[in-house]
Amino acid sequence: MLIATGLTIPAVQSEALSGAQLYDIACEACHSLKSAPGHRVGPPLGNLLDRKAATIEGYRYSEALRASEWTWTLPTLLAWLSDPDTAIPNNAMNYVNALTAEESQRLAEWLLQQP
Ligand code: HEC
Repeated sequence: MLIATGLTIPAVQSEALSGAQLYDIACEACHSLKSAPGHRVGPPLGNLLDRKAATIEGYRYSEALRASEWTWTLPTLLAWLSDPDTAIPNNAMNYVNALTAEESQRLAEWLLQQP
């Protein structure tokens, strides 16, 4: 089966969206990458790696996220993105993940490298 589709795999890969593109599609409407709270619905996501959840000053987080004691790393970010409501019930991020596991991974790895 893999051999039969071998010719199409490179084509699919070259069309794969980068982490930055996935971010623009799935997150950018609600989140900026700056580190100060902007005018968007969600908190800024720059400099996220090893940041404690719900610690951007001036942003009004949900009670649930503030009580979570989470720290943003690749595993926690992937858990959050795969299903925010299961990860931290009663959070305020109104988001349903429409990405594949592989896309989520690519996006999360890219995001955690942004200053
Ligand atoms: C519909 C708007 C919306 C979309 C789309 C969205 N978010 Fe959020 N996000 C929020 C809101 C609102 C919060 C604050 C949640 C809370 O306080 O419970 C949040 C919180 C977060 C946090 C916690 C940040 C912190 O300071 O602790 C992370 C990480 C996050 N979002 C990542 C993402 C990523 C990555 C995407 C894209 C895959 C995304 N979000 C898409 C609205 C959104």
